[in-house]
Amino acid sequence: MAILKVARLGHPVLRQVAAPVPPAEVTRPETQRLIDDMIETMIEYDGAGLAAPQVHVSKQIAVYAVEANPRYPQAPSIPLTVLINPRIIPLGEEQEEDWEGCLSLPDLRGKVPRYVRVRVEAVDRHGKRLEFTATGFHARVVQHETDHLLGKVYLERMRSLDSLSFLREFLRYQGRGSVIQE
Ligand code: NI
Repeated sequence: MAILKVARLGHPVLRQVAAPVPPAEVTRPETQRLIDDMIETMIEYDGAGLAAPQVHVSKQIAVYAVEANPRYPQAPSIPLTVLINPRIIPLGEEQEEDWEGCLSLPDLRGKVPRYVRVRVEAVDRHGKRLEFTATGFHARVVQHETDHLLGKVYLERMRSLDSLSFLREFLRYQGRGSVIQE
């Protein structure tokens, strides 16, 4: 396992549409190693999620996990999930705005509207088909990560840049203890 270098905004890899992983490549050792390294990198930098383009690999792979933390009850626990070639289908029109951060945009936070309910279709790291409905914070994380696979970052999803804040000012003026970033 290895901690990988995280691409920051301005690196072209973050703006490319990531390539799908061919089914035969999912279980190959190099893909499995990349997934393990992405998980280790996400944990090392306290991310809620990480997409392969963020570690300079333009492939449709994303990982995420949120551990239950009694200090941040607004962030529900989400088990470690690996999504390969994900497809996201909004269920309904309803959106809600909440704060996001991103390991590729260090020390920034902004309010981003996301669909409240989405259907997720993907394959897992064993090549098994995954289908589930994600709601609320889980749906937010999935949309943030799959956006990275489309070459997008959360800034483009913001309705306005008025809420964009540095972390220090976010903590001071929004009074939010949680610093979830993906
Ligand atoms: Ni991100």
